[in-house]
Amino acid sequence: MDRIAITGGARLKGEIPISGAKNSAIKLMAASLLTDEPLRLTNMPRLADTRFLGKLLQRLGTEVSESVGTDGAETLLTTREIVSGFAPYDLVRQMRASFTVLGPLLARTGQAKVSLPGGCTIGARPVDLHLMALEALGAKIEMHEGYVYAQAPRGLKGAVIRFPINSVGATEHAILAAVLANGDTVLENAAAEPELADLADCLNAMGAKVAGAGGRTIHITGVSRLHGASHSVIPDRIETGTFAVAAAMAGGEVRLTRTRSDFIQPLIDKMVEAGVEVTPQEDGLTIKRDGGRLRAVEIETGPYPEFATDLQAPFMALMTLADGESVVRETIFENRFMHVPELGRLGADISVQGDMARVRGVEFLTGAQVMATDLRASVSLVIAGLAARGETMVNRVYHLDRGFERLEEKLGACGAQIRRLTSEDATEEVE
Ligand code: EPZ
Repeated sequence: MDRIAITGGARLKGEIPISGAKNSAIKLMAASLLTDEPLRLTNMPRLADTRFLGKLLQRLGTEVSESVGTDGAETLLTTREIVSGFAPYDLVRQMRASFTVLGPLLARTGQAKVSLPGGCTIGARPVDLHLMALEALGAKIEMHEGYVYAQAPRGLKGAVIRFPINSVGATEHAILAAVLANGDTVLENAAAEPELADLADCLNAMGAKVAGAGGRTIHITGVSRLHGASHSVIPDRIETGTFAVAAAMAGGEVRLTRTRSDFIQPLIDKMVEAGVEVTPQEDGLTIKRDGGRLRAVEIETGPYPEFATDLQAPFMALMTLADGESVVRETIFENRFMHVPELGRLGADISVQGDMARVRGVEFLTGAQVMATDLRASVSLVIAGLAARGETMVNRVYHLDRGFERLEEKLGACGAQIRRLTSEDATEEVE
């Protein structure tokens, strides 16, 4: 199994180009099921998760080909015909977002059998709101032996759907199903993450009529068919925020390019409050920190545009060395503090009570063997390792490979002492 070794203490200087957003790319790939014409996605991240969804789509009938163009990596997806409406447990279990193929399959063919995703390390993560939305659109849903059987033989019908909470996945799923429904759909209390607007832009380029995505109310006028299109994936705001925190942790000056600073404004506000210099630019931002201890600040995660839950673990790593006590409150997922004991192995002083972690800043961290059970927790250990004394060895690197493209190369190019140790018996495990 691959591991990443980091020798802490090197200051960072240089530029890091940000990749296309993983959490957008996956849903955009699923959108290719809605048309028999080619969908060309550019600025695509090359990640374990996108490869993984590509494999599932191929089983459903999509031809997937990859190339490189002027706007980075490209993926061409063509689903002339859905050859199977069946997404088996083994594939959905390994990546929850695979569940999103249910809506497009249903919209295009009137039926689908998709495995329930099952448990997850960061929280229960039910899919009740996904199913509620599909039922509101007229789907008949039954569940047997861990599978969702969905049918809409006469097609889906537009509806008014009010979500009780902001769910990224359920909102995306409802849009993906409603674009081919008969009539108008209104989604109220929708999630407003930038990935929603990206999905709507791509679908509109394919001939859909989606208005208001990126806000709390989304209007969709169903159309009878969609056509091919070319779409550039938005920059990954979580990768942007993670490298911003990494630069602040290590110290030095790093410019993040091919991205947007407005996507991570709450993080920037907190970094500035902690004493980091952040300068937004047209195509990204520069992070600067010259020695001296940071101040402890409090954060609370929330739906966009609040502080992103996916940046909570990286920010907590930064706070381990701050002066004073920082309070971190996680309101999105109930089990998202798995990095705490691992940061403790590096010498961090953190206690957790319910949805709140208290981080008492220490003078220094010391390298150790660590591992984590999800992507964002894993990268928080890399960030801590950048500033820890001696060597930190992060095990289970496949979590990082799910969501970060060439992480060690990007950090290494700025002077981080980081290297991947490969092993023949690398295995892929589940989230
Ligand atoms: C997306 O997950 C992202 N994943 C997550 O990123 C991210 O942390 C999350 O949104 C929040 O921003 C992808 O886009 C692939 P939700 P998603 O539905 O859509 C509850 C990463 O590391 N809920 O917005 O699954 C749920 O349990 C990943 O890249 C229900 O109760 O998140 C949670 O408490 C991890 N019923 C809250 O809503 C439902 O049917 C928000 O979850 C659906 C969700």
